[in-house]
Amino acid sequence: MSFDFDAVIDRRNTDSLKWGLYRGRDVIPMWVADMDFRSPEPVIEALHRRVEHGVFGYAMPPRELVQVVVERMERKYGWRIEPSWIVWLPGVVPALNIVCRAFGDDGDEVLTFTPIYPPFLSAPTLSHKSLKTIPLRREGNLYTFDVERLLHDVCPRSRVLLLCNPHNPVGRRFNTEELARVSQICVTHDIILCSDEIHCDLVLDGGPHTPAATLSPEVSARTITLMAPSKTFNIPGLSCAFAIIENPELRYRFNEAREGIVPGVNALGYAACLAAYRDGEPWRLALIDYLRDNKDIVYRFINAVGGLSMDDVQATYLAWVDARGLEVQDPARFFEGRGVAMSDGADFGEPGHVRLNFGCPRKTLLAALDRLNPSGPDT
Ligand SMILES: Cc1ncc(COP(=O)(O)O)c(C=O)c1O
Repeated sequence: MSFDFDAVIDRRNTDSLKWGLYRGRDVIPMWVADMDFRSPEPVIEALHRRVEHGVFGYAMPPRELVQVVVERMERKYGWRIEPSWIVWLPGVVPALNIVCRAFGDDGDEVLTFTPIYPPFLSAPTLSHKSLKTIPLRREGNLYTFDVERLLHDVCPRSRVLLLCNPHNPVGRRFNTEELARVSQICVTHDIILCSDEIHCDLVLDGGPHTPAATLSPEVSARTITLMAPSKTFNIPGLSCAFAIIENPELRYRFNEAREGIVPGVNALGYAACLAAYRDGEPWRLALIDYLRDNKDIVYRFINAVGGLSMDDVQATYLAWVDARGLEVQDPARFFEGRGVAMSDGADFGEPGHVRLNFGCPRKTLLAALDRLNPSGPDT
């Protein structure tokens, strides 16, 4: 089966957040994490069928979808979950915020490793918790957890650790040993582990993704895992995600904190999610190949430009570009001025960096890279 990831689809004038922000300007948007690809055909067909029905009442999770998720966890990770462990949600970001509300008292601590996807930094404060950030440390050419620093910084008021695996923005697919060390600290210090695994189906390096909850029964008992089809199948605008929570007490507190505030999933979100997980695998496998090639192009290009560098991206379609060598005050602004919009590292807790989204057709990617060369002409 072949899929046309090269097709350039005009997203201007479609109320796309990514493209609309730069409406009327000659700027290629490589910022917010959605891709410029059409979703898998089975997803589009399922949506057509659902729309054709014409009645859009409140929805409940399709039984088949629950079964598909249960089987998916078993098949991919050998993880046996019960249907009752799944909590359906309109997004992963709401879940990060629910977790920060649900556990601990005002002023208690939420820990996270930086740089990190910005909602990890805002969720604790929005819930009157105190945010403690622990910089990821460099080991060789990759980022990893600074376990010693985590151990040093944990205190009796540390309640929750927000983890991102695979990691946005540094693109790491953390291995079992790394995850085991961090999760063991959570067990020892009675910390709830919230593991955002939204990028788990976007592994580019062929290695396994390890859900934190599969590490041991003790870890599973304190873990809230967050997943969604949204990044992988390019349906984030359809608002469908889920948490997997084995421990009934944690699940109860999570549900209590979301009650009356965070709605359920809508009928189209469920329809798309079911079609994606059930019928989207050939598309996903082809997507991974395409993204890997895009990543190789970006990697070679960035590391050849003086003043820029990046690590290999093991997972996600996001490259974390170190632009400190350019010695410009604000690299995101600098590149925006050259006609490429990327996410500002300062928002992730690491200024001097930009995050480049390479989930786009090759033609768009090459046009953007052309503009990135700081010694090239200004656009
Ligand atoms: C790590 C991570 N979590 C959550 C989200 C967004 O989740 P949602 O759109 O389901 O709220 C993103 C989007 O980029 C992400 O990278």
